[in-house]
Amino acid sequence: MFEGSNRVGLVKPSAIRRMLELSSGMKNVVHLEQGEPDFTTPRHILKAAVEATEKGFTHYTEIDGTLELRQAIAEKLERENDIDADPKTEVTVTSGSQEAMLIAALGFLDSGDEALILDPYYPACFEDTLLAEAVPIPVPLDEGKNYEIEMEVLENKITKRTKMIWLCNPSNPTGHVFSKQDLEIIAEVAQKNNLVVFSDEIYEKIVYDGARHISIGSLPGMKKRTITVIGFSKAYAMTGWRIGYTVAEKKLSAILRKLHYYAVLCPNAISQKAALAALTGPQDCVKEMVTEYNRRRELVLDKLDKIESLPYTKPKGTFYVFPNFSTYEKSDESLATYLLKEAGVVTAPGSGFGRAGEGHLRISYSVSYEQVNEGMERIRRCLEHKA
Ligand SMILES: Cc1ncc(COP(=O)(O)O)c(C=O)c1O
Repeated sequence: MFEGSNRVGLVKPSAIRRMLELSSGMKNVVHLEQGEPDFTTPRHILKAAVEATEKGFTHYTEIDGTLELRQAIAEKLERENDIDADPKTEVTVTSGSQEAMLIAALGFLDSGDEALILDPYYPACFEDTLLAEAVPIPVPLDEGKNYEIEMEVLENKITKRTKMIWLCNPSNPTGHVFSKQDLEIIAEVAQKNNLVVFSDEIYEKIVYDGARHISIGSLPGMKKRTITVIGFSKAYAMTGWRIGYTVAEKKLSAILRKLHYYAVLCPNAISQKAALAALTGPQDCVKEMVTEYNRRRELVLDKLDKIESLPYTKPKGTFYVFPNFSTYEKSDESLATYLLKEAGVVTAPGSGFGRAGEGHLRISYSVSYEQVNEGMERIRRCLEHKA
């Protein structure tokens, strides 16, 4: 009887959700599709949350997050991201990065506006653009050129209606870490065309091989036009706590905050105490998790090397690899379904991450080493059989 609004009709369910539905009820399945760290949230963070509940810290907090957490975030941003922010007016604690993306789309895009999206992309920025009744304009990044940003490709997509650019650095799904040079090109285009830059840096701490994550908001002149979003989900294995934050110049933050209030009223009180402990407590836990992700990354790459005709770009960040399977099967959707049915491995079809992702599968190594090993062996055997 009810079909939902026209707006709902604009967005599509995620490719991962489709794969999960397909695999539900199946036994002995290896899950390599989700970006869900298998680690338990570190003990000192859990402890802070328990203490908070015991002390009755179970009420609404300040709308934009407790000042003590915002202060800790501002100190972290100065120390690690080279971003100078006023905790009172420029830092907003959100219910995860996902909330930040939606309020940014609704806050900065009008109907018919265009938003550039580096393709392959994290799907929420595409769908959130549609929810804002704006037009997502994919900017394909060339895998053959290691996903580098090219000024000409970016500039070719600019029109009078372009308002915003979505960036995910390090990138989900490719694992690419954008260089300073890449970011300078984006910054130049943004400044020349008066664009807002939304920079999703949720994987900032998960980098390998000495790669350096740089926040575009720290580049000269970029603070006034950049919304940086960072979450606790990935770095501290805190996906279920639903906590993240935005940092943006006062005027931009005021726009986000207006919508943030109507979306969530305030972020979860207990999670804010947990997040404070995550930021101010020992950081060895992050190092240990990243070391383990790196071990799994080497394993996946080693397994991929053993499969014939399977190009991939070595990821320097995140816990994803994005190999190109198009020599095996043109449609990534049907290949993912085949691997599920024949090998019992769930992967994420690349076309769910944009047209530039077609023919690829995103493999997540956020599950245990043993599961990664088992999943990759199954994929190898299955493809050998198929070839
Ligand atoms: C690139 C990217 N951004 C945002 C999110 C959502 O993160 P959060 O848990 O902070 O809402 C994810 C989750 O997978 C992600 O991969």
